[in-house]
Amino acid sequence: MDIGAVMNTMRDPAGVPAQPVVFQILMVTTWVGHIAFVHLALGSAGLAIFAFHRRAAAEYWERLSMAMTKVAKVAVSLLIVLGVGPLLFTQVIYDPQWYTSNVLSGRWAIAFIFTLIVAYCCWFAFYHANREGAKKHIGVYAWAALGLFCLDGLIMHALSYQALLPDQWMNWYAPGGMVDTRGAALHAIQWPRYVFFMSLCVPAVGLFLLAYVHYFAVHADREPAYRAFVSHLGRQLAQWGYAIALLPLLAWQCDFPAGSGLALHPVGWLIVGAIATMALWMRQLDDNAHGYLPATFGLALLGLLATWREIIRIHYLRPLGYTIRTYPVHADWPSTVLFFATLAGIGGLVGGFYLMLLYRAGRTQGVYIADRTAARLGTGAVSVLGVWIAVFFVYGIAVSMHNSFN
Ligand code: HEM
Repeated sequence: MDIGAVMNTMRDPAGVPAQPVVFQILMVTTWVGHIAFVHLALGSAGLAIFAFHRRAAAEYWERLSMAMTKVAKVAVSLLIVLGVGPLLFTQVIYDPQWYTSNVLSGRWAIAFIFTLIVAYCCWFAFYHANREGAKKHIGVYAWAALGLFCLDGLIMHALSYQALLPDQWMNWYAPGGMVDTRGAALHAIQWPRYVFFMSLCVPAVGLFLLAYVHYFAVHADREPAYRAFVSHLGRQLAQWGYAIALLPLLAWQCDFPAGSGLALHPVGWLIVGAIATMALWMRQLDDNAHGYLPATFGLALLGLLATWREIIRIHYLRPLGYTIRTYPVHADWPSTVLFFATLAGIGGLVGGFYLMLLYRAGRTQGVYIADRTAARLGTGAVSVLGVWIAVFFVYGIAVSMHNSFN
């Protein structure tokens, strides 16, 4: 059986509405947002639990635990929302691989949703109970949530990795010639890859703490001693987190198939170098000099990692006869223009306005009063939203009527 022909036949016959590379770029860039919040959620949840159990040992741990519990609560919701972007784009250009992988592990793909719901509920239970002098047993909720979040990461990893191994699909679908439609197994797990992705949550929360200290520097209720404690902890977590992440990364580098050209690919080693550099930089960082710069570099590193994931996917699938470059294109300019206009208008202007407002309001002690620029942006955001809703309905109704009468 020619697996390349099978994959190409499984493509959506409607094709894609613009050049496939457009969706590839969007897939890679939107995944950066998803994984950044995965790391922040897991890192802050882990730190919240650690700090919760250290409450009696030293001052500030209890306060930090409560703060990180809130951070994890918000980060989980953002990782879910931001996961939708790469999910959509993967389904556009890698639909044969993504759907097959999901069907082969159907029970796990469905269990992913339920375990995520249970995990988030557990985290909320911990969040509500984690107050000053909270009982020790509430930590059970937090541990359960963190365990399930890690399981969800494992399911995501297996679904991504199985999609890279089409030459093994038949063995999983019909082992020994007997069809097995249960979808009851996670068929392939590349542990170094999974552990590496997950391990980055440690430096991520470190970088977040450094930004947190900078952000709250103007608040009198976050006194200098507390900020110094958090800043020191942030640096330690970032430094040791990056250093430790090198181990699974190197193991992953050694685990690529022979002859794939990936083990010596420069991008992989660039990531090794970048992570080592981050670890050394964090080691030399002065407790007072940082701000948002380390977090910005951390995000850039994730951009590199997202690109690397895509290079790996190309190297796995190309020899089997699949490349997105041959995906049939049925150009649909109106929908492409509408998509990018929505991205710029709603994502850029409306989203940017909210972010700016939240940032400035949070950095103000007392009542925040918007200046002229913020007020203008607000008017612009509301106008864009109005135009967008109008265009959405008018265009949708026009297309439906056109289709009904033709
Ligand atoms: C706690 C929950 C989650 C965790 C820990 C998690 C973690 C991960 C990890 C580690 C990867 C990389 C896997 C790899 O390349 O080996 C990944 C990829 C991905 N995740 Fe999540 N994720 C979670 C929830 C979600 C949700 C809710 C969505 C969708 C709404 C989502 C969408 C995706 C997508 C689309 C990919 C890339 C798939 C691909 O390119 O093949 N994730 N996730």
